[in-house]
This record gives sequence, structure tokens and C-alpha cells, in this order.
Amino acid sequence: MATLGVNIDHIANVRQARKTVEPDPVQFAFLAELGGADSITVHLREDRRHIQDRDIFLLKDTIKTKLNLEMAATEEMLKISKKLLPDYVTIVPEKREEITTEGGLEVKNNQKYLKDYVNSLKSSNIEVSAFIDPVHEQINSAEEIGFDFIELHTGKYSDLKGQEQYVELQKIIESTYYAIDLGLVVNAGHGLNYQNVRNIASINNINELNIGHSIVARSLAVGLEKAVREMKTLISTN
Ligand code: PXP
Repeated sequence: MATLGVNIDHIANVRQARKTVEPDPVQFAFLAELGGADSITVHLREDRRHIQDRDIFLLKDTIKTKLNLEMAATEEMLKISKKLLPDYVTIVPEKREEITTEGGLEVKNNQKYLKDYVNSLKSSNIEVSAFIDPVHEQINSAEEIGFDFIELHTGKYSDLKGQEQYVELQKIIESTYYAIDLGLVVNAGHGLNYQNVRNIASINNINELNIGHSIVARSLAVGLEKAVREMKTLISTN
């Protein structure tokens, strides 16, 4: 059975909308663990639009599962991750103007740079994953570079419907087996939700699914009524 990594960036998005102290992603990591999360994922972006440096250091000190730090392969992030020492790092492509991570990482055309980068992380005992599209040449390059894991990008699968979605699913299944044969551990994520997760979760030997947006959205749906009721009680008992 695949484990579940819960991405809590969107909790920080709500906090940053007001630049205040709540909701605190550190507190919500605790709740995610109570619900059964096997790891906590955060993406420290260059522009710090959601997760802040303070969050990752507090998470490292307080979570009881594993910390997966998503980041771009920059010098700044290398320094931070070597100081933080998360359980693993997932290298993702990052563009300032994007709303969320769009395509997978281009590993094939950045082999030399990424090899040095991955080696540097590994020398600090940090395991390293590459977020890539389900494409053989990217998988081959990830293996050659020395990544411990890959995370297959399920964004396209999640956006498609019907026969097109089925074709993309077959690509993900085939890529998973291909990568496992090469000795890689295979995770998957992006765009997974309560409707589309089961096809991916049922792939044999898939290691971990990383899911953020749909879980945070669902938490609003299951929690808002109670939150309003509590406020109503406070107002009415005054
Ligand atoms: N995996 C990676 C590498 C991501 O960048 C993201 C989004 O931050 C996710 C998984 C989670 O995607 P979603 O929020 O759509 O579940």
C-alpha cells in the first residue's frame, strides 16, 4: 500500500493572505499526522509566497513522521536544506509566475549540474527525489544522476478525462514499473483528489502519494459548519 504525504502549503497560503499567524501550518501538520499522514510535504518557494523559513525549522523539530522539502535546485535552497536536514528533498522546477508546479523537472538536459547538486545533498545524508514527467529518458537520467526516488507527475492524468486519461494512466503505470526495474523508488503526485486517486494508489509497489490541494479543500468542507456553529454560540451567549 502506498503511504500518504500531505502537502500543507495551502494552509500557509491562507495565513499569507493576511500576513498573520493563523492558520499555522505547523499546527495543521500535527492534525495531518493525527489523521494518518505518513509524511509532511512543504514547498519552500524562492518568493516565499506560502511556506516561510520559520515553518520548515519548526516542522523539523515537531513532526513525528517525515519531512519532505520540495524546492528548486538553487544555491540558496541547498544552503537551507543542509541546515535543516529534512528526511528528503524533492527537487521541482519553479517559475515565479506559475500558480503551482507545472511540468516535471528537466533532468535530461541538466545532468551535470544536478549530479553535483544531488551529491552535495547526499553527503549530508539527505535522500533526494526528482519530480519528473512519466517519460523514459527523464527516468533514465534521474537514475544516472543518482536520485534515490522519483515522483511521477500526475498533473496531466488529473486534468484529462475518459480515454485520454486512461492513456495517461497507462503511461504512469508503465513508467512506474520501468523505474522500479532501474532500482528507483517511485512516488507520485499532483492534482490527485478523492475521485482520481484510486487508479494511482492501486499501482503495484508505488511508494508514496503526495497530495495537498484536494485534502485542504476537503478539510474546509468538513470543518466549516462546525467553525460557524462555534462562532454563532459565542455571539449568542454574550
Ligand atoms: N508533488 C509535487 C512535487 C508538488 O509540487 C505538489 C504541489 O505543490 C504536489 C505533489 C501536490 O499537488 P496537489 O496540491 O495538486 O495535491
